[in-house]
Amino acid sequence: MNVIRFSDLCANGAVQGQRVFIRADLNVPQDDAGHITEDTRIRASVPCIQMALDAGAAVMVTSHLGRPTEGEFKPADSLAPVAKRLGELLGRDVPLVANWVDGVSVAPGQLVMLENCRVNKGEKKNAPELAHKLAALCDIFVHDAFGTAHRAEGTTYGIAQFAPIACAGPLLAAEIDAISQALANPKRPLAAIVAGSKVSTKLTILKSLAKNVDQLIVGGGIANTFMLAAGLKIGKSLAEPDLLDEAKAVIEIMKARGAEVPIPTDVVTAKTFAADAVATVKKATEVADDDLILDIGPETAAKLATQLKAAGTIVWNGPVGVFEFAAFENGTQVIAQAIAESSAFSIAGGGDTLAAIAKYGIEKQIGYISTGGGAFLEVLEGKTLPAFDILMQRAAG
Ligand code: 3PG
Repeated sequence: MNVIRFSDLCANGAVQGQRVFIRADLNVPQDDAGHITEDTRIRASVPCIQMALDAGAAVMVTSHLGRPTEGEFKPADSLAPVAKRLGELLGRDVPLVANWVDGVSVAPGQLVMLENCRVNKGEKKNAPELAHKLAALCDIFVHDAFGTAHRAEGTTYGIAQFAPIACAGPLLAAEIDAISQALANPKRPLAAIVAGSKVSTKLTILKSLAKNVDQLIVGGGIANTFMLAAGLKIGKSLAEPDLLDEAKAVIEIMKARGAEVPIPTDVVTAKTFAADAVATVKKATEVADDDLILDIGPETAAKLATQLKAAGTIVWNGPVGVFEFAAFENGTQVIAQAIAESSAFSIAGGGDTLAAIAKYGIEKQIGYISTGGGAFLEVLEGKTLPAFDILMQRAAG
């Protein structure tokens, strides 16, 4: 991907004494008391900030947090807990600056955090007036917010249009390199796991991957719709019967390429959706009218595990069953262990997937864990994200 890389600018001394504006994705979950419950994105943003400080820049970093109403700042919108956590990670104070659009005072060697950028009027729609003001704050704009790279907003797109230099930070560059290499030049067989409740939300991804992958493993409600498409009964399980033709089309595209969508041969069912519901393993051909399928069965899980262990590359998005309930977690756990034990290059993304990886403690055995949710999915769809689009345009001059 032809973009200017911040690491190159730092290496050739172009950053010394410059005002550097870093757009990070520090949108992290918090509990009701405002404590950060998961700080991966903050930790992933540290290398870029440290790189800018080491290169002698005057550093500003900002992010959105949640989806606040523009022009109506509320205490819950504040990046204060994030600034505190970043300060702990960097071992320095990170002052938080409010009302910063018309000017920021920061000297070389200093770092300030600019309050929630989504509170600024015009951010969401990328208003040109705001974009020009943002660009005037810096000499170098660094986009390092992969999780927000699918949004064309003021701090993710507009500032990149008008800043003197607009470049990709190390996290943004690493994310796109990892995902595109996994898909464009994969070691085969290439297996993708696409799971989740609805085919409709992931149909474009399924169609796009169907042209490329060797095994397209579907899970959750998506698998139920594919089971229906394969002529199986699914009882009262979650599914989208109106998308049967689309599911059949995906199966056909794969078949025509000599690839496959493995359809479960056994499943774990319950009569109610509850943590204490009685789990019953049965053949996929024996699902009763009042059954809910809540996981793949052990035979299916073992078969998929064998395929995953033999894969060259694995892309993982979504748990294959209701892994939050102990009785229905076996499928996801077996798959997670198989990915961990596989010598394949694995790449994982999405909130539920990251939760499963954390639950089974396999972080270190995954080749690349993306910080993106929606952005990760859009890359899998084969889309060029707005962040990369504008950075490529700027690199081309
Ligand atoms: C995310 O959490 O996926 C990103 O931070 C993007 O957030 P958004 O969907 O509110 O733009």
